[in-house]
Amino acid sequence: MSGLRFFLPRDAGALAVGADAVAKAVHAAAQTRGLDIDLVRTGSRGLYWLEPMLEVETPQGRIAFGPVEADEVAAILDAAMTGKPHSKSLGPTGAIPFLARQTRLTFERCGIVDPLAPVAFKGLEAARALGAAATIDAVTKSGLRGRGGAGFPTGIKWNTVRAAQGTRKYIVCNADEGDSGTFADRMLMEGDPFALIEGMAIAGFAVGATKGFVYIRSEYPHAIATLDAALRIARANKLLGTDFDIEIRVGAGAYVCGEETALLESLEGRRGTVRAKPPLPAHRGLFGMPTVVNNVISLATVPWILANGADAYRDFGMGKSRGTMPIQLAGNVKHGGLYETAFGVTLGELVDDIGGGTATGRPVRAVQVGGPLGAYFPRALFDTPFDYEAFAARDGLIGHGGIVVFDDCVDMAAQARFAMEFCAHESCGKCTPCRIGSTRGVETIDKIVAGTDRAANTALLEDLCQTLKFGSLCALGGFTPYPVMSALHHFPEDFGAGGKLAAAE
Ligand SMILES: Cc1cc2nc3c(=O)[nH]c(=O)nc-3n(C[C@H](O)[C@H](O)[C@H](O)COP(=O)(O)O)c2cc1C
Repeated sequence: MSGLRFFLPRDAGALAVGADAVAKAVHAAAQTRGLDIDLVRTGSRGLYWLEPMLEVETPQGRIAFGPVEADEVAAILDAAMTGKPHSKSLGPTGAIPFLARQTRLTFERCGIVDPLAPVAFKGLEAARALGAAATIDAVTKSGLRGRGGAGFPTGIKWNTVRAAQGTRKYIVCNADEGDSGTFADRMLMEGDPFALIEGMAIAGFAVGATKGFVYIRSEYPHAIATLDAALRIARANKLLGTDFDIEIRVGAGAYVCGEETALLESLEGRRGTVRAKPPLPAHRGLFGMPTVVNNVISLATVPWILANGADAYRDFGMGKSRGTMPIQLAGNVKHGGLYETAFGVTLGELVDDIGGGTATGRPVRAVQVGGPLGAYFPRALFDTPFDYEAFAARDGLIGHGGIVVFDDCVDMAAQARFAMEFCAHESCGKCTPCRIGSTRGVETIDKIVAGTDRAANTALLEDLCQTLKFGSLCALGGFTPYPVMSALHHFPEDFGAGGKLAAAE
């Protein structure tokens, strides 16, 4: 008997919890039953608390089971064959609330398809039909802003590179993904690498670049392997290699190498230290040539925009935050995973409804949004909508869309100290506020917590944060004040008796 089709991720997150053992068990159970089955290894759907999630194709669509242990597979196979209930059955995959409530545009194929099954580059075809200038207009009109952190309009960046003079131009994809609690880039590269490749090819066509580089962190071996295989397939299918080609470069692991100018230094073979701006990379970037530096998600979203139209993308979102954002729920959260949705969803909806609260079952006390340089938000600010401007208005940032949840056991003074220490540890050393200020900042937080001249040291910390914010060369020093000051402002009780902030004023 044949015809049964199974789907199981080979995404790093699923592999880490035993997906390969489940795959083996599926083949073994099928063999014992004399079944000729097809097991497609996909990327992840992003429901990480349910991994390994095994899906079975039925005439009514896919049925999911998860999280599956290898020794449960035989019974699951029997249940799938007979339609009998099984305790790990999640029902039709598309009806799982975490998935059903999403708007998947960038991740529309991720977790569904075989990542290495060639796809038609419909977005690239549309771009070629439009021409380079109109392609950039479409990206601008879509309202797409950089998903790497800064939220800079992608179309404007491309236009600058297109207009810049240079004997060569480059497309550099930033796949360093250093923010705590983020994994969207990895998940996309492992689950739908062709979306990124196509996005880079469109960018190359639009700005007149013939060469692209993907700068990817060494901690992502599976993503590197999948992307490398996809590049070979794309070349074999003549989707790459004629007028545009892409190379992978693996970073050695420094948070600051995600900053675009440090990344370019590293790509050129030097230590990853920040360059002063101007000149912008768009004018003088890689090897001194006009360069587009874009995040994985920014680039991987472009094919959807070109294939479906700028207006279709722009229709989603709120204010100046258009389209969708792949939000990553991490830390102490019950339903950790990737949730792509239109901008405008509130922090409270994300953490309480979608994330299901904490994994420990204790009350949520704080969430850090936007990576290690993002602010800590208390429950009182959970009405903040996911929107670049709304977060900025509350001294926060959405960054790459990572949310790390903490329960009421968290010590916010320790978190503030950690943020300063992180800056001291990761500083490239090029500018004084970041290099020296962060170390002095750790010492000052220690004094506050120890009760040494608390009011004076709190005032000193605030002053130091202002210096870091306005005097640093890049956002590593410039944004470290966000986690530090948000912890101090929203959780003063953790910094010593009576709330030092009040004492300082
Ligand atoms: C310290 C630091 C680390 C950063 N890390 C990343 C990163 O890992 N990935 C990323 O895409 N952008 C990162 N950025 C932002 C980049 O400098 C840059 O804005 C981004 O790659 C531009 O792409 P986008 O416009 O598509 O977002 C970082 C910035 C700073 C200051």
